Amino acid sequence: MLRFSTAGESHGESLVAMVSGMPAGVVVEQEFIDREMWRRQKGYGRGGRMRIERDSAHILSGVRHGKTIGSPIAMVIANNDWKNWTDILPVEAGDATKHKAVASPRPGHADLAGSLKYDFPDARYVLERASARESAARVAAGAVAKMLLRALGVEVASHVIRVGKAELGRAAIWEEIAALQLKDEVLLNCVDAEAEAAMKAEVDAVLRTGDTVGGVFEVVVHGLPPGVGTHANWDERMDGLLAQAVMSLQAVKAVELGRGVTAAESVGSAVHDAIGYQGSDKAFTKFSREQNNAGGVEGGISNGEDVVVRGYLKPISTLRRPLGSVSFETREPVKAAYERSDVCVVPAAGVAAEAMVALTVARLVVEKFGGDSLREMQRNFNGYCEQIRAY
Ligand SMILES: Cc1cc2nc3c(=O)[nH]c(=O)nc-3n(C[C@H](O)[C@H](O)[C@H](O)COP(=O)(O)O)c2cc1C
Repeated sequence: MLRFSTAGESHGESLVAMVSGMPAGVVVEQEFIDREMWRRQKGYGRGGRMRIERDSAHILSGVRHGKTIGSPIAMVIANNDWKNWTDILPVEAGDATKHKAVASPRPGHADLAGSLKYDFPDARYVLERASARESAARVAAGAVAKMLLRALGVEVASHVIRVGKAELGRAAIWEEIAALQLKDEVLLNCVDAEAEAAMKAEVDAVLRTGDTVGGVFEVVVHGLPPGVGTHANWDERMDGLLAQAVMSLQAVKAVELGRGVTAAESVGSAVHDAIGYQGSDKAFTKFSREQNNAGGVEGGISNGEDVVVRGYLKPISTLRRPLGSVSFETREPVKAAYERSDVCVVPAAGVAAEAMVALTVARLVVEKFGGDSLREMQRNFNGYCEQIRAY
């Protein structure tokens, strides 16, 4: 089974990502992993931290001579900011006077619930792990999953469809979403210049008022054959697994598959994607659809259309003009603590969600096609594609 986990604190020495269950023989490109991490750092509305960090994943194990060897892949991502925190947040007891306590929990963060749960009258330790700095490690792991999927012709990309009240307002085609990923400048990762300008104006407005803004990203999986995931058991359905993976990202508060939200207010005949039999030679089968309201998954199984997953982000919780809170020490009302913060992270969250979607799809692909080496997996994959092509 393809699995991954992460470790590390936001201002600790480094983050760690570990991926196991990858078949041997997958080409691993350092440049690709680092570019994915660079993409996560970008976007209009990021805070000062992203000017300090230059994320790069240092591979410790599981890759030799540029290819996976079937053993667990361990990666370390150094935190450049650690040099400013070595005395503040040491592993050993250190000097208590240098400690930077977070003495008034911030609404919208894990600060209060985590402090109560772990018995710290200080949200520092909770904040350090709850922070979305952790998503950098997910992106490194996701890049490895993407390289496996790429070897089977499956691509994953994201774009932003809403920031605050500004929205794309039209469907985007795969080619324009894929082209966005190649850009060397990232503003709000929107396929439409006019909509992107309106999104930037939303960020500018909250920059002026000391507030923050959320939005919606869309992740698209292109080139996945029908039949990945299953209807057979609740915890193996692809839609459920994607929802959990994307919802687990910091600040994501709703996940939608295809037209899931607007489908709820429509009638069935306007929602479901009629089936034809005019598929092109390039498609996996001759069965075809004129639309993809289902978002590429029916009954928990991929149906051969693009898988389309949307994540809805709440506005960032840390506010330059903080909301009310209570001092852990005095129990008196005070303003919530402020830590240097982003004001808009929709493009970056989209990149982190690509990683989560890639890891989820790669896991299901490994389960379906199996194989200890890429060659074995590709043989199984091609044999299956041939089988469904005959329908
Ligand atoms: C890429 C990314 C960067 C984020 N940066 C910040 C930030 O700078 N400040 C902040 O308050 N929240 C930030 N968040 C959101 C918080 O981490 C998140 O809201 C918080 O940990 C509480 O978790 P929850 O919103 O999932 O309940 C970021 C989220 C993402 C995905």
